[in-house]
Amino acid sequence: MAGWTLGIETTAHTLSFGLVDAEGTPYPAASDTLRPDQGGIHPREAADHHKDVAAGLFQKVLEQHELGINDIGAVAYSQGPGLGPCLRVGAAVARGLATRMDVPLIGVNHCVAHIEIGRQQCGCDDPVLLYVSGGNTQVIARLNGRYRVLGETLDIGIGNMLDKFARNQGIPFPGGPKIEQLAKAYLEENPNPDMEGLQLPYAVRGMDLAFSGLLTAAQRLIDNGAPLNAVCWSLQEHAFASCVEVAERAMAHTGKTELLLGGGVACNQRIRTMCEEMSSDREGASFAPPRMYCIDNGTMIALLGWLELKKRTTSLEQSAIDQYLRTDQTPIVWS
Ligand code: ATP
Ligand code: FE2
Repeated sequence: MAGWTLGIETTAHTLSFGLVDAEGTPYPAASDTLRPDQGGIHPREAADHHKDVAAGLFQKVLEQHELGINDIGAVAYSQGPGLGPCLRVGAAVARGLATRMDVPLIGVNHCVAHIEIGRQQCGCDDPVLLYVSGGNTQVIARLNGRYRVLGETLDIGIGNMLDKFARNQGIPFPGGPKIEQLAKAYLEENPNPDMEGLQLPYAVRGMDLAFSGLLTAAQRLIDNGAPLNAVCWSLQEHAFASCVEVAERAMAHTGKTELLLGGGVACNQRIRTMCEEMSSDREGASFAPPRMYCIDNGTMIALLGWLELKKRTTSLEQSAIDQYLRTDQTPIVWS
């Protein structure tokens, strides 16, 4: 039965193919992430990587779920936002597959896909979303038929900040998980830690956030001889507290009682715990999807495609990517 929707994710370092079945039930994705040995990621190198592994990975996701190409009834892809060269590879693969299989094509909003997979996985209805990834840091809520960005980073994304700090210490990409481990090790050595000497700037500006000052100040602590695991702990506490503060203000202003975490940084247990504590203090609830659906994955793209296909498809003429697509540009036509 040709009832499955394929989702193709290529906004940045990760190429991922995921699937939902005819009822919209998600199935784990097959993914491949470019991890350079040193330095940051060049968008064109990431795009070349995606091109090289696409055919093999597509076969893999089909085999993983014992499907054939004829089981695919629609192809969804990330139309934006993201790195141009990477997005273009995903769009080209999607167009090629949809044309070859003669099935509908649908371009979707990557940020909205993070929200919808979280809602589906956690069973929450109308949450404030704390979307914390490499490139994005946003506090979002549904108001008048769109996901509105109530607050966001004014400079770099929180994950990029963690990755850059890690890279300066010789820790390879992605740095976030390693920082989490080092911070945890610090707490095991110091069960009652003291922030004295480890303070960092805390940049909340109204509903907005900023992280580059934090990055510079954390590096300064290292340069002045502070131990790495202590700085990792302080960096997490400061960065996560600022996100949770804006999320709390968003809950207060909108009157919503659910908080939903999304994006790669939502894999972090410390930010999950901070969100749970804040929400329960307000007699609300905090949710976080399984980690495989927090990081970039094709399944969330398939799910949003499946939801939107009830109302629209994307013609080849409309299928160009949009690097700067905003969260609030996508009308919520599905629920
Ligand atoms: P987007 O296009 O939405 O910005 P992205 O390209 O940043 O996505 P994601 O997979 O959503 O990709 O997020 C990757 C980020 O998540 C990296 O910055 C990585 O360091 C961070 N990350 C992953 N696991 C953890 C963790 N346990 N703690 C903190 N950060 C983490
Ligand atoms: Fe993402």
